[in-house]
Amino acid sequence: MFILNAANAAIITACLRVACELDVAETLREVGSEGLHVERIAPGKVNSDLLARILGLLAMHHIFREVTPNVFTNLNRISAALDKGKTQEELGCAETRPADASGPAAVVELLQVKILIAEENMKMVAFLGEAALTTQENQRNLPFNHVFRTDETFYAWIECPENAWRRQRFGFVMDATAAWEPPHTILTGFDWSTLPAGSLVVDVGGGNGNTSMQIARTNPSLRIVVQDLDSAIKGAKLHWQSNFPSHIDNKMVSFQAHNFFTPQPITDASIFLLRYILHNWADEKAVLILQHLRAAAQPTTRLIVVDMILAYACPPSAAESGPETYAVEGTTRPSAPSPLLANWGPASSFAYTLDLCTYSYHGGEERTLGAFLDVFARAGWKLVRVYNPPASQLSHLECIPI
Ligand SMILES: C[S@@+](CC[C@H](N)C(=O)[O-])C[C@H]1O[C@@H](n2cnc3c(N)ncnc32)[C@H](O)[C@@H]1O
Repeated sequence: MFILNAANAAIITACLRVACELDVAETLREVGSEGLHVERIAPGKVNSDLLARILGLLAMHHIFREVTPNVFTNLNRISAALDKGKTQEELGCAETRPADASGPAAVVELLQVKILIAEENMKMVAFLGEAALTTQENQRNLPFNHVFRTDETFYAWIECPENAWRRQRFGFVMDATAAWEPPHTILTGFDWSTLPAGSLVVDVGGGNGNTSMQIARTNPSLRIVVQDLDSAIKGAKLHWQSNFPSHIDNKMVSFQAHNFFTPQPITDASIFLLRYILHNWADEKAVLILQHLRAAAQPTTRLIVVDMILAYACPPSAAESGPETYAVEGTTRPSAPSPLLANWGPASSFAYTLDLCTYSYHGGEERTLGAFLDVFARAGWKLVRVYNPPASQLSHLECIPI
């Protein structure tokens, strides 16, 4: 039964989509512990018999609770995360929702409904087999290429005018990823306040520059440059104009269109920050990005990579990355006691999911510590510290030039 359930897991995803699109979590919040019969959850929008079956399956997986036959509540810690905390009126029309939604539920909605299921990921996963079950090395054989029938890379493809809405939506998603983290985790780990006033932080592939904006708000004496592709940089400017205009007026932030596969133009950076960048790229390309940063680095420049570190399911061993690595602060993390899997199993499986997701889009990968050490060394960087913020899936890897 376990293997059958695993094989059918996509049905849960599809049911989540229906629940999200019908705002079931919000409707149930408003009725409290008594719950609501399926006939009254989204009348006129859905066949209630089918909705009963859909919510029934979710309730089987502890998503919503069935209190009496076909009567559901959302008094459940798991499905409570789907609640966007807004009234039906505030939620308004589905088209305007991404800009409004905030908090973890915004991520759920954007990823589960709009992207993962309806639009991109679920279709891509269906092609994982086509991409994997071939012996031909072909950069253009990714699930993304199959689904969207293009030979382009994802980032070239979303530059097409007809995909402008996808680009915008992707920006919302990246901003919403902050909600996966406890607030301000970027301010923990590396102590930004130790940088002298006027030091330059380059947010490479910074998207809207949301991460560097958090740094700038608490460390206003730091100069920030947000770098990204041309279209993303236009969005970043608007984002800062709306959210932190004084930093633009004070000339403490600037925006630069820059392709990180070409030589880095900034040679006086104190910090190169790469958040959710390396995981998009296979080793050759990740090394190229890091080499360009290394060539532009001063001896005092630090590289801060914010990404997930994949932990093996088997107990950790020094053989993976060499005993000297284990002397680096933060590289050992607590393993789960037997009989749990050493990496805590499903509790940390999101990194494994994202690993195949980045592969499907870009041919990228989430990396183990050993894989990070390999790409750093090939590009001339040395890992000096890893910080694992509590309750966060992302680690901060701090490097210095070799
Ligand atoms: C996953 S997003 C991360 C954005 C941001 N660092 C964050 O954490 O929110 C990857 C970013 O890389 C940018 N990007 C992709 N290819 C690029 C390239 N060749 N040069 C510069 N930026 C690029 C994308 O536009 C996107 O903003």
